[in-house]
Amino acid sequence: MVGIFGCILKDGNAAPVVHEALKRLEYRGYDSVGEATIHEGKLYVKKDQGKIDDVHALHNLDDLPGRIGLGHIRWATHGAPMQVNAHPHLDCGGQVAVVQNGIIENYAEIKGELEELGHVFKSKTDTEVVPHLIEEKLRKGLSFIEAVRETLNRLEGSFAVAVIYVKDSDKIICAQKENSLTIGLSENAVYCSSDIPTFLPMTKKTVLVENGELVILSDKDYEIRNFADWSQVVREPKIIDWVPEVAVKEGFPHFMLKEIHVQPACLKRTTRLQEEYLDLMAAFLDRAKELFLVACGTSYHACLAASYMFSKMAFLSTHPVYASEFIEQVGKSVNIDSTILALSQSGETVDTLAAVDYARGRAATILGLTNVVGSTLTRVSRVYICQQAGPEIGVAATKTFTAQLSVLAQLALKLAEKRGKVSHVEIEHFKAKLRQIPDITEKIVQTQGEKVKQIAKKYRDKPYFLFFGRGISSAVALEGTLKLLETNQIPSMACSSGEMKDGVVNLVQPGYPMIFICPKDDTYKKVYADIMEMKARGASVIAIIEEGDEQIKALADDYIEVMKDVPEFLCPIQCIIPLQLFAYYMAVERGLDPDRPRHLTKAVTVK
Ligand code: F6R
Repeated sequence: MVGIFGCILKDGNAAPVVHEALKRLEYRGYDSVGEATIHEGKLYVKKDQGKIDDVHALHNLDDLPGRIGLGHIRWATHGAPMQVNAHPHLDCGGQVAVVQNGIIENYAEIKGELEELGHVFKSKTDTEVVPHLIEEKLRKGLSFIEAVRETLNRLEGSFAVAVIYVKDSDKIICAQKENSLTIGLSENAVYCSSDIPTFLPMTKKTVLVENGELVILSDKDYEIRNFADWSQVVREPKIIDWVPEVAVKEGFPHFMLKEIHVQPACLKRTTRLQEEYLDLMAAFLDRAKELFLVACGTSYHACLAASYMFSKMAFLSTHPVYASEFIEQVGKSVNIDSTILALSQSGETVDTLAAVDYARGRAATILGLTNVVGSTLTRVSRVYICQQAGPEIGVAATKTFTAQLSVLAQLALKLAEKRGKVSHVEIEHFKAKLRQIPDITEKIVQTQGEKVKQIAKKYRDKPYFLFFGRGISSAVALEGTLKLLETNQIPSMACSSGEMKDGVVNLVQPGYPMIFICPKDDTYKKVYADIMEMKARGASVIAIIEEGDEQIKALADDYIEVMKDVPEFLCPIQCIIPLQLFAYYMAVERGLDPDRPRHLTKAVTVK
């Protein structure tokens, strides 16, 4: 996730306005920054790797001439954070500048065609195909608007772009497909941005740009068109009355709630990973003689879920290991035949990096899954995948967990296909279900929030909680516990309900709150029996059930519904959402700030 911004002023220089706006966008990403302006028929560009203040100290981002400008703040997804990969990107002639947020899925194909026509690419980004393609269309005699429109119609993926051109220097053309873009209008300027808060100090008058729309912005006006059929869209501006603090959270009271709610959009990005990365990683996994899944905290829970996915779908057995235990537990057995798949959203967790370092020292193959391109994990991995969740601000991991699960599920599927372990029909069915995951999670987020809030109200004074699941849901139970521990400091624990009889059963008293995760997979009957047993001892049961599961509904004290007919390997993605919401609403009910749990930091980078 990155941020884009553009403005046309009636008077004065755009660069300081762009610079200020980028500072407000910094929460979306912060590994590189760049600006472009046009003045007297010439394009001016400043960009570099680093945080905005550091780049400004080095290059003075206020010092570019011209009243029209673009800006970009980057969180790398294609190409490491380096000056050459920072936006804006230009065409060969240095006349077209483009900033983009999103993923252009068919960039490799377009890049190949353009290289054959003599275009020279400087960066490793997907974005750079856009200015070159526009240039190619301009060369053929199309107008600026036509060239942009034709280019947009060629792009696959999800994106928001803004473009300026020296020979048509009184306009910005911006557009979005399945990505966020808004317009701001004031007496003295027009703006486009990835979000509203960026221009809120300048104007509250905004127009939302919808999917498939292109906007021609000039200092006087804006014209919206559908870029596929060129039909005109009439949309009046709205007045936004958010205060800036609320606006960054897009109207949500906390980042944690916002991040729970943006999961469907993140999952849309994550399910659009480039096939070649998945193929490459799956090839390494396939060859692995011995595979360790290594991580801490939430990322470890994703490893645990992956161990079920890889085993059940691709018949690949793995060893999920806490990074902090890796060296002690298995270190001496690691050798050239070992493969380590390390998971770390930050890519900087000290225990995970120590495990990786140790394994590298013993000649093992290192694979990485992270949210931060350019992090240490990406530098030490033979192959890595970026999970495309965008920066996460809430300390409790939410959207980064479901994004990890989605990548791991895709890897399991690839591997199953490669190994011929699942029939063609099943593969196609699973792929279709994977594509539905953003909609499935959207439905849960939209329909279950209020219900979870009421349950949190009811249970807010309970001094402890137990979480149970079986099979892959035991990873969900662990993650649910961690969310509650982090945000509420309520003693709670999780285990497979198969282990209940080995001690935990001793804790049960009337009213003891127990949360059971009960998808209708192979474990369902056993989980049902486990609930019966706990109910017989007077426990209060909150069940996460599939829609319409009357059997458990009749047994449980409270229930939250997820969607039915979701395959087992995708179920953790939907089942964790009610538990994230539960932890969130419990914190709110108990007067705690879920975004700032005491004693916790986002990344544990010191031992
Ligand atoms: C949980 C949480 C932590 C992290 C853990 C690993 O909400 O945020 O438990 O999951 O510190 O962090 P990464 O994934 O960055 O290695």
